[in-house]
Amino acid sequence: MIVATDSNALATGLAALRQEAARLAFVPTMGNLHEGHLALVRQAQASADAVAVSIFVNPMQFAAHEDLDTYPRTLDADLEALEALGTDLVFTPTESDIYPEGSAQHSKIHVPVLGEALCGRERPGHFDGVCTVVYKLFRMVQPDMAIFGEKDLQQLLIIKKMVQDLGLDIEIQHGPTRRAEDGLALSSRNQYLSAAERALAPMLWQTLQHCAAQLGESTDNAPAVLQTAREALIKAGFSVDYLELRALSTLQLLDTLSEDAALFVAARLGRTRLIDNLQLHAH
Ligand code: PAJ
Repeated sequence: MIVATDSNALATGLAALRQEAARLAFVPTMGNLHEGHLALVRQAQASADAVAVSIFVNPMQFAAHEDLDTYPRTLDADLEALEALGTDLVFTPTESDIYPEGSAQHSKIHVPVLGEALCGRERPGHFDGVCTVVYKLFRMVQPDMAIFGEKDLQQLLIIKKMVQDLGLDIEIQHGPTRRAEDGLALSSRNQYLSAAERALAPMLWQTLQHCAAQLGESTDNAPAVLQTAREALIKAGFSVDYLELRALSTLQLLDTLSEDAALFVAARLGRTRLIDNLQLHAH
C-alpha cells in the first residue's frame, strides 16, 4: 500500500499505480474508519482496478463552534484497516497541502438550493467546505470514479450536482448506510455518546421507519406524521434540528409522496449531532 503524505508523493504514487490500473476508484474520508467507510472501499475494489482513499479532516467544513479539534483521529488504526483490505493508495495530506494560504483565504464552491436546505441551513458554509475539498481532492487524485455513502444523502446529492455542473469526468457511485445491530447508523461521532445516549440513539432510525410505514399507508399526511414523530423524539430527550420529507431531485419539502423522496433527520443528544435518512419511492 502506498501512503502519500503530500501532493508530490501522491503524484509519484499515482504514476506508479496508473501503469497497471486502467480504472481508479476514490473514496474520500475524514478517517477514524469504521465498517461504513470500509464497505465503500470494498465496493470501490469491486468496480475498479485500483482504489485510492484519502484521510483529511477538512477544516473548511467545520464551523468555529464545531468539533474540528476533538474530531477523532486514529491514523495508525486507519492505515492498518486499509492495508488489511488491500487498498492500493492512501493520501493523507496536511492542511497546507490543500489550503496553502489557509482555508479562510481559499476560493469556495457553492452548490445552491441543494446545499442550502437541511444541514446547509443548520450548518451554514458546511457544504461549501465539503464541495471545495472534494473538488480539490478530485483534481489531485484524478480518479475515474468516486464513492460516497448514502448515510450522508444530502452530501451525495450535492456532490453529484457539482460534478454535473462543473463537467467533471468522474462517475459518482453510492453505497448503502451501514448500521449497528440495533439500527444506529455507523458514524465517527457515535463515540461522543454517553452509554445512556447510545442506548437512546437507535430511536432515530426507528422513527424514520415508523414514519415511512405511516406515509406508505396514506398519501397526504406527512406534516402530521412528522410532527407527532418530532414530539416523541423531543420527549425522549432529543433536540431535533429537522425531521422532514423532501424530494430527492430538488430537496424541496413535500407534503405527500408525489415523487421519489427521503425522510431526513438531524437531532442532538447532549453535544452529539446525529443524522440519518430513509429513501422512499413515490406512490
Ligand atoms: P466521513 O464522514 O469520514 O465519510 C466518508 C464517507 O463515508 C462518506 O461518503 C460518507 O457518506 C461515508 N459513510 C460514513 N458513514 C457511513 C455509514 N454508516 N454507511 C455508509 N457510508 C458511510 O463525509 C465525509 O467524511 C466528508 O464530508 C468528506 C466527503 C470526506 C469531505 O471532507
